[in-house]
Amino acid sequence: MIVAMDGPSGTGKSTVSRRLAIRLGAGYLDTGAMYRAATVWVLDSGIDPENAAAVAAIADAIPLEIGTDPAIESVRLNGLDVGERIRTREVTAAVSAVSAVPRIRVILVEQQRRAAAAHDHIVVEGRDIGTVVFPRAEIKIYLTASAEVRARRRVGQSGGDYATTLADIERRDLRDSTRPNSPLRKADDAIEVDTSDLGRDEVIDRLVGIVEERMGATETRRTHE
Ligand code: DC
Repeated sequence: MIVAMDGPSGTGKSTVSRRLAIRLGAGYLDTGAMYRAATVWVLDSGIDPENAAAVAAIADAIPLEIGTDPAIESVRLNGLDVGERIRTREVTAAVSAVSAVPRIRVILVEQQRRAAAAHDHIVVEGRDIGTVVFPRAEIKIYLTASAEVRARRRVGQSGGDYATTLADIERRDLRDSTRPNSPLRKADDAIEVDTSDLGRDEVIDRLVGIVEERMGATETRRTHE
């Protein structure tokens, strides 16, 4: 069973996906962390993230290893832990450009499919999981929240100025949803969950309910076939 979790940043998607995986006893894959790690590799290679041809040229050789245990975050480049580095402002500012390069997406999507194949059950989180990476995922969730709520949450967590944060979020949403290659969009068969007015535990309970209901329906169908 694959649970595809998509949606823009700031919806609480990562925390919720990780906790959902723990509740389900499933693996967990944070594909945003993979694009972020690729961005660290680009920056450390001295390549301008906006130079798509130069980024594409090193895509095949990114020495990335990512863990799938929801209880332990593990992102490594050449064996070195980059878990903190991938969350820096420098990387956040450059990741949209790197993740828009088609060759980067081809390489990372292959790695995502390999990682999922090693699990019976896995929660995979990103932007294009239900549309491109696993279009046949058993369960697809699209998490949303208004840009204002997301900006307020971000300022509450990491500080900073509300207006700048809101502008950053809107710019990144626009860039991620209008890029020609795998734009952020809700899959037609995804269930949309708006988290604007829900606490984190309420969101997780709702998702567990959706998974249980869906898996129950699949079991029932199987026994009747
Ligand atoms: O979820 P996040 O903020 O860590 O993602 C970082 C960036 O990676 C974000 O700008 C969008 C991009 N991304 C993507 O293009 N495709 C994915 N499946 C996951 C993330």
